Amino acid sequence: MPKATPAKSPPIPPAWRSDLDRILIPQTEIAKRVEQLGLEIRRDFAGRDTVVVAILNGTVMFLADLIRHLDFPLKLDFVGVSSYGTGTTPGEALLTKHASADIRGRDVLVVDDILDTGKTLDRVSLQLRQFRPRRLRTCVLLDKKARRQIKIKADYTGFQIPNEFVVGYGLDFAERYRNLPFIAVLKPEIFLAADPARPPVRQAKAS
Ligand code: IMP
Ligand code: MG
Repeated sequence: MPKATPAKSPPIPPAWRSDLDRILIPQTEIAKRVEQLGLEIRRDFAGRDTVVVAILNGTVMFLADLIRHLDFPLKLDFVGVSSYGTGTTPGEALLTKHASADIRGRDVLVVDDILDTGKTLDRVSLQLRQFRPRRLRTCVLLDKKARRQIKIKADYTGFQIPNEFVVGYGLDFAERYRNLPFIAVLKPEIFLAADPARPPVRQAKAS
């Protein structure tokens, strides 16, 4: 699996220079890797009765690009998760929107933007398993392994990334930066200015 460590990061567009430290994964690299993930998933899921369950809202771009590479019939569903924590302790993941598709006996692919502490994916997988899918697989674009608190590994992972707060390609900080077509490291002063007591590199935040 590729590590997101480009030798030389491309220039940041002027409008974002004050907020972003560097581009970690350029648009072209994302596109290549998403296509590869799509091929792997196609191979494993083709011919199955598949439901793709995406976790809102950070999967918006990844999901849209990924499912374009899945050339078989599937159903699409969404779950919402919030994380409430205090101080530097990451909160528990709470479901704010439940899946509505009938997943009993079906093959389920759960899609999330980033695997961080692991609480979100663990919580969602546990909840979906209650409905007795035939098989449940997980797919994340990014994996910040250093932050894991729960022993969980995604079945399909786009990139391993270092322990830094990233934005773009659907990922946000305070609902901003989701529209960036690349993945970039946010300058620490941006999140420290927003809330010095709760830097997001230590505080899990699901959205
Ligand atoms: P986990 O429950 O700690 O694994 O957190 C997963 C969720 O936290 C993701 O779905 C993201 O919404 C959010 N998150 C974790 N790290 C980052 C980051 O670096 N940037 C933006 N969002 C993040
Ligand atoms: Mg998310």
